[in-house]
Amino acid sequence: MKRKEVELLHSGKDILFKSLFFPILVLVLITTLYFYLPHTPSSLMSDIDMRSNDSVPLNTTPLHPSINDSIMNCMKFGRPDSDYMKWRWKPSECELPLFDAKRFLELVRGKTLAFVGDSLARNQMQSLVCLLAIAANPVDVSTTTDTRFRRWLYTEYNFTIAALWSPHLVRTQDDGPEGYNANNLKLYLDEADEAWAVQIENVDIVIISASQWFFRPFIGYERGLIVGCHMCSERNIRNFSTYYGFRMAFRTAFRTFLSLKNYNNKLVFLRTFSPAHFENGDWDKGGSCVRTKPLKKQEMKLDKYILDLYMTQVEEFKEVKMEGEKKGLRFRLLDSTRAMVLRPDGHPNHYGHWSQERKTLADCVHWCLPGPVDTWNEFLLHMLSIEELNLAGKKLQKHA
Ligand SMILES: *[C@@H]1O[C@H](CO)[C@@H](O)[C@H](O)[C@H]1NC(C)=O
Ligand SMILES: *[C@@H]1O[C@H](CO)[C@@H](O)[C@H](O)[C@H]1NC(C)=O
Ligand SMILES: *[C@@H]1O[C@H](CO)[C@@H](O)[C@H](O)[C@H]1NC(C)=O
Ligand SMILES: *[C@@H]1O[C@H](CO)[C@@H](O)[C@H](O)[C@H]1NC(C)=O
Repeated sequence: MKRKEVELLHSGKDILFKSLFFPILVLVLITTLYFYLPHTPSSLMSDIDMRSNDSVPLNTTPLHPSINDSIMNCMKFGRPDSDYMKWRWKPSECELPLFDAKRFLELVRGKTLAFVGDSLARNQMQSLVCLLAIAANPVDVSTTTDTRFRRWLYTEYNFTIAALWSPHLVRTQDDGPEGYNANNLKLYLDEADEAWAVQIENVDIVIISASQWFFRPFIGYERGLIVGCHMCSERNIRNFSTYYGFRMAFRTAFRTFLSLKNYNNKLVFLRTFSPAHFENGDWDKGGSCVRTKPLKKQEMKLDKYILDLYMTQVEEFKEVKMEGEKKGLRFRLLDSTRAMVLRPDGHPNHYGHWSQERKTLADCVHWCLPGPVDTWNEFLLHMLSIEELNLAGKKLQKHA
């Protein structure tokens, strides 16, 4: 049973309830089974899991001027090909409608949406601003000059988008220059980063993500004491696996939501791991991403580390989802990993900066705009629509 079907059936449940007892029983059974049966990775992946060949341009309008400064505007930096903008994700069992900016803005009227995470969270935010530009332009209502905490207000819709920079999600003390020395980076794995945690009470929709920043060496603390380290050679300190800090950061972040005093109707999305696509070398060893076409489904190979990172997130997510459900807190999976694994063509590569800047490293981590990252916001719109249906169903039941 695929998740979307379950959710759709869920949304109809309230209406069905009045008239049909048996289907409800079946639904409950299916839902119960869904949560208690072990999941294979593929069934945990989104139901949206088939790439199509539709060459429908995602966004034919020019980029919004307000993101003119975006380093993700690959065309601006001379990328010669443009096919990477033209591939849309085709879910296996449904049609993902073209992004409808007006519809999106109606769904979020009066709300605040926050992107919590690193520069990939910002990448999604820029994509959203760009996609919405067809319908409305926001004003900058940032309360700081630090663009990592930018806030946009869509006045007409009283809708606010906020970026909350927090690449580790947990409290971090970053002492030295960015280097490969664990002594420089301390992660307090059981304390949420205040940069987002103190703001979140007043946010209606949160999209949380993290990834690349956990690959650096660091020392991990819990209850204020050292519990281990990642990629370090300190004696007498436990050597973490690559995934330990990552797992704990999500656990702590999710628990922060559970401990809020007020979370009425708050929606929390986990945007799953976004794969990088370095080929012919690592990021610091001359690797690059020169492809101009998406992979075909048959060509897809899910590296073990991608799968492990993905599963780590999803395991923590499943734990908190169940607990949240009991309290009326909605956790949802924005399950984009699989879609992005197929898109090695969508990164800036060497077109993330002016060629005269003579930067040698290729960017195969972020995503060009417009480009495949827009898919995340198509998923988001789709999922917000489902949530609205669910709420409408609940209201109907209340008033029946
Ligand atoms: C995509 O479409 C083009 C032209 O419509 C066709 O030549 C090509 O074989 C298709 N590719 C796939 C993967 O279906
Ligand atoms: C955006 O960039 C283009 C080309 O770099 C430039 O012509 C245009 O004036 C810029 N727009 C704004 C609003 O800065
Ligand atoms: C805008 O939305 C906020 C909540 O996000 C609300 O407190 C405020 O009253 C709204 N303003 C208007 C003019 O509707
Ligand atoms: C810790 O693990 C890393 C690999 O994750 C390894 O290279 C390193 O040698 C280990 N250190 C110790 C002290 O075991």
